[in-house]
Amino acid sequence: MSQDLRSFVAAYGRAHPDEVVRVAEPVSIAYDVMALVLEYERRRRFPILMFDTVAGYDIPIVTNVVASRRALAFALGVPERALAAEYARRLKEYVKPVLVADPPFRHRVLTGSDVDLQALPVPRYFPGDAGRYLTAGMLVARDPETGVETEGYHRFQVTGRDRMGVSLHSRRRMFEYQRRAEAKGKPLACAVVLGLHPLVSMGSLAYPPPDVGKFEVVGGLLGEPLRIAPCATLDLHVPATAEIVIEGEILPGAREPEGPFGEFTGYVSRRSTEHVFVAKALALRERPWFQSIASGRAGDHITTLGLVREAEILNALSRAIPNVTGVHVPLSGTSAFTAYVSIAQSRPGEAKHVIPIVLGVDHYLKLVIVVDDDIDVFDESDVLWAVATRMQADRDLVVIGGSLGALLDPSADERGVTAKLGIDATRPFGAPFAEKLVMAPDRMAWARALVDRLGRQEDPRP
Ligand SMILES: Cc1cc2nc3c(=O)[nH]c(=O)nc-3n(C[C@H](O)[C@H](O)[C@H](O)COP(=O)(O)O)c2cc1C
Repeated sequence: MSQDLRSFVAAYGRAHPDEVVRVAEPVSIAYDVMALVLEYERRRRFPILMFDTVAGYDIPIVTNVVASRRALAFALGVPERALAAEYARRLKEYVKPVLVADPPFRHRVLTGSDVDLQALPVPRYFPGDAGRYLTAGMLVARDPETGVETEGYHRFQVTGRDRMGVSLHSRRRMFEYQRRAEAKGKPLACAVVLGLHPLVSMGSLAYPPPDVGKFEVVGGLLGEPLRIAPCATLDLHVPATAEIVIEGEILPGAREPEGPFGEFTGYVSRRSTEHVFVAKALALRERPWFQSIASGRAGDHITTLGLVREAEILNALSRAIPNVTGVHVPLSGTSAFTAYVSIAQSRPGEAKHVIPIVLGVDHYLKLVIVVDDDIDVFDESDVLWAVATRMQADRDLVVIGGSLGALLDPSADERGVTAKLGIDATRPFGAPFAEKLVMAPDRMAWARALVDRLGRQEDPRP
């Protein structure tokens, strides 16, 4: 299959013509990209946006590629309702990458003083941001101890021709790789890759075991090996279809101010790990596209983050809980902090057993609500009704204090240490409980048909 961003956008546009919007009128890199995304979101729309004319630059910007469940389901080739389950299934199927020579991004390779990151159309997103940010920069590096590669998105603030501040605040594999290199007094050789197929983005967010590289995870999502190519100046591989590759290193022992930046939490975030990236080479495709990911709580930033947590929770629970009927990591919890899980309990105490398993999937999760299978986890009012009527605080809460959390959560302390809460909002197992109000199914079928008929009648008002 085509593994590049351009082919994906073209195919998606053919299948859903209204979902790819070309903006021909000139836009500024200051706020325009983000403002347009926000206006579409206000209208409950999440189209891919292609900005053909960026004032002062000859490279077009594409954004909102991973903003909607519809686009992600299209990338996986499944209906939207099957998205999380299919994602969960394919995340477990590792396929090793294959090496290709002569990737398109070798069309133009600039090194030394020819590198100028400021010449790229790097936007400014919100007025509270410290500067211009690469938001779709996929950072690729190898574990200095094991050689296993990882990739993940990290925000980069352009601070000079060849210098960027980078925040590794998710404190997962990349943070550890840098820490290991720094402990040896060495820089972490790495590449920042822009312009990727959505399945590469989705694979990068997974939680594979430490001996499995993320390229293998992407291969599982693609259903075929990811094509990778060597960097021009580093002993490192990156996805071969990339639009732009910035090769360089994260300096050991260096920290410089980075941020504030409008983050997924919905706040102007002043927290950062303040690492420093220095570019050595800039490689570009012929007439490259510059990918941007809209920031803050935009769908482009957080839709994939909620989905991957749903998929990973499904996989983790499947090992211990036989009847999980729903998992939802809602936007209200910034697609990161909150999870709702519904189960059909077959053993006493199962609901409480769910809580540590879910919290163990990812250190950002800090509120887990477990409900019975008659509750729709995608209906937050239903979930809160279960909490209101089935939970007793003296027996149904599980609290863990002083735990590893999200550095950017403003309610966590400066070190990102947080408390976690699990709520068992299920009915007592095997004991009598109040009878839920339910209408007779045949009368509901009658009412549904009647409302449909009434809806088809002409509006009698003048
Ligand atoms: C659009 C987007 C932006 C992100 N920005 C950052 C960031 O600035 N810093 C960070 O540490 N993690 C960020 N993340 C989360 C990481 O990319 C994610 O946790 C990744 O899986 C980490 O990979 P690793 O386990 O290989 O370190 C971002 C995720 C997305 C989807």
